[in-house]
Amino acid sequence: MPDHDTILDLAVTTAREAGALTLEWFARFRELEISHKGPADFVSEADFASERLIRERLLGAYPDWSLEGEEYAPTEGSDRTYRWLVDPIDGTTNFINGMDYTISIALRRGNETVLGALYNPVRDEMFTAVKGGGSFCNGERMRVSGQVDTRLFAIGTGLPTPNLSLYPGAYARLDAIRAPIGAVRIVGSAANSCAYVALGRLTGYFEETGFSDTAAGILCVEEAGGVVTDWWGRGPEFYERTGTMIVANAATHAFLIEQLKDVPKKG
Ligand code: IPD
Repeated sequence: MPDHDTILDLAVTTAREAGALTLEWFARFRELEISHKGPADFVSEADFASERLIRERLLGAYPDWSLEGEEYAPTEGSDRTYRWLVDPIDGTTNFINGMDYTISIALRRGNETVLGALYNPVRDEMFTAVKGGGSFCNGERMRVSGQVDTRLFAIGTGLPTPNLSLYPGAYARLDAIRAPIGAVRIVGSAANSCAYVALGRLTGYFEETGFSDTAAGILCVEEAGGVVTDWWGRGPEFYERTGTMIVANAATHAFLIEQLKDVPKKG
């Protein structure tokens, strides 16, 4: 088993390569207005190409490990201990509108995330984390915000697209947190939102979303001193399955648990 730094280097190089590849589509997003292709085809071409590249690099280096991505069926390796979780483009709606998206790669050993690389090619920001080894943005150590004043909280969330109606309570939750805090922000990529919490740009973030989008981001937040639970304050055995998560500094986390408790929820 190579050391974590060696594996992280591979994840970082791979995320950068996938970033460069997807930027070629991203740069042409205005062509969608005149293209015969719909947005779904446009983004899925980029998504598939990104995941293919990531699969080749990661499984090429560690052929016995498993890999679960968003676009292809999972690969089950002979070594069941290690599993990559990949989102080749997180923030597809942002992507087709020319806004920030991310590429997320996390490595799981059994039930824990041991390292992750999360890349925003538009801003050229690389977020990395190793369990027990801290989390970094472009090599600088990250710490969650120290903000404790509710009026200055900046809280990220997401409004799922499409079929918002399948997510009851989304607007009620916004309403529940809106009044006392400084700002609600929809970053448009769950992975990037987690990275922003780790960096202190957001004091917290909550959403119901896929775990493969957020596994690397969650480790970034934990390693930056943040709190991660589901909406009921429960641990990974719940939020990894349901995707209902809060990642935040301690003060924002306590606030969100309290504010969201009476709002209709799934999970
Ligand atoms: C989505 C994005 C979005 C979030 C959704 C996710 P995708 O992932 O992260 O910001 O609000 O919950 O599903 O579909 O772009 O990979």
